Amino acid sequence: MRTRFLIFLSGIALFAGLLAAQGRKSVWMGVYTEAEAAKGKAEYEKACIRCHAANLDGIQDANLLGDFGPRNSLRGSDFMERWREDTAHSLFRLIKTGMPPRNEPKAQVAELSDEAVVNLVAYIFKGNGFPAGNRDLAQEDLRLTRIQEKEGSKPLPSFSVVQAVGCMHQLKPGQWEIRGAAPPTRVRELTKPSEEDIQAADAEPMGNQEIDLQNLGYLGREFEPLQYEGHKVQVRGILIRQPPNVRIDVRLFTDVSGVCEP
Ligand code: HEC
Repeated sequence: MRTRFLIFLSGIALFAGLLAAQGRKSVWMGVYTEAEAAKGKAEYEKACIRCHAANLDGIQDANLLGDFGPRNSLRGSDFMERWREDTAHSLFRLIKTGMPPRNEPKAQVAELSDEAVVNLVAYIFKGNGFPAGNRDLAQEDLRLTRIQEKEGSKPLPSFSVVQAVGCMHQLKPGQWEIRGAAPPTRVRELTKPSEEDIQAADAEPMGNQEIDLQNLGYLGREFEPLQYEGHKVQVRGILIRQPPNVRIDVRLFTDVSGVCEP
């Protein structure tokens, strides 16, 4: 009995170790502390509550705030549906660069500090029932912290704005796919990835999906896909599911590394 339990434990340790090696964490793994969430609550009461309400549900009476009243809840299944398969970093960035909305008459001009925003993210996580742990949510953990349902990640619907990493492969002349790709993950904006984004993409474990690349012509005349054959690449674009195929309508293309080992 005891040995079985130990084997079970070492299985968990191995699994956790693998995840740690790959650097990715689910929000269900205790990624913030109660102390951070408590500081986030104080921050929220100062800067967010008048629009997003005490329970994170948002003020439903649009007249109260005119065009600035939020429609989306910051918790529950709606929130999960909009944010799953994205990272804590995207949430951080949205708050840091856009909350409270800058053009709103009563907006505080001062931007929130990075620390305050991390605490707000912790508070929103707590409001969504993600468990607290005993390690602070550090700035450098944000890109590796994946928002997902308790049971794990699920495929994103068609027309999601996504990114995917895989090995560039030519199916037949002019028709390309990425192979060995992990399921596409969500991005908020179709902008050029930063150096940190690319490093994070490179650190992500590969998978076994084949994703067709559509509309490479969008990238311009100078773009020559042959040049990247066999490279590990990252694409950003619009996901299109048409069973049995998964395609990405490509808007941005980045060479992650010259070699690809799926
Ligand atoms: C003046 C009103 C106002 C204030 C103050 C405000 N927000 Fe917002 N917030 C909005 C609006 C409007 C949106 C747009 C999305 C929507 O309609 O729900 C939004 C969206 C968001 C979203 C994205 C929701 C989603 O899932 O799409 C987050 C997260 C958020 N706010 C967090 C905050 C935080 C944290 C603060 C405090 C620092 C804050 N907001 C302060 C009005 C406000």
